[in-house]
Amino acid sequence: MFKAKEAAGVTVDPERIPRHVAIIMDGNGRWAQKRHLPRIAGHKQGMENVRTITRAASDLGVKVLTLYAFSTENWGRPQKEVSYLMSLPVTFFNKFVPELIDQNVRVMVMGNIDRLPESTRTATLNAVRDTADNTGMVLNFALNYGGRDEIVRATQAIATDVAAGQLQPDQIDMQAVSDRLMTAPLVH
Ligand code: FPP
Repeated sequence: MFKAKEAAGVTVDPERIPRHVAIIMDGNGRWAQKRHLPRIAGHKQGMENVRTITRAASDLGVKVLTLYAFSTENWGRPQKEVSYLMSLPVTFFNKFVPELIDQNVRVMVMGNIDRLPESTRTATLNAVRDTADNTGMVLNFALNYGGRDEIVRATQAIATDVAAGQLQPDQIDMQAVSDRLMTAPLVH
């Protein structure tokens, strides 16, 4: 007989809990619009939801929770909105890293973080560093992440290994590609 797991009012069969859950954080603008609030109020609420979802996923025994927080396409949004979005990781990590440590949650990040503003990058990297020894759920933020960018980087890594004679073209299989995706470090 299984022992049901419960979190955030949901009861789940522990056998059926996915290892890795990924969430595209969408609908913030619509949420705000419905309430006659500015779009950024929706993003603020989205950030608060990260806290709730993280706790629930961790309590349910999810191993990796990936949150698509900012895509490479999101730079095209109005400057004020981009600035606000860039301030969210700073607010979030300043407020919640102690709580994440308490929950044994480890923060990781995927995407081209070199292009993020200094304050965003530092807050994120500090959170990664401060939670590096945690052994529970991985909370993986996709920041300045793009699917095409990920493919380009994986392809470059494969080409580099082939050029160096470390990989033969006929050895390029699904595993070889998986090993070079941004999700590779998450598998533990
Ligand atoms: C899309 O909603 C959402 C985003 C572009 C950003 C979402 C990310 C956060 C709120 C949290 C970031 C937090 C941390 C801690 C990194 P939308 O504006 O496209 O909404 P719509 O689909 O209703 O227009």
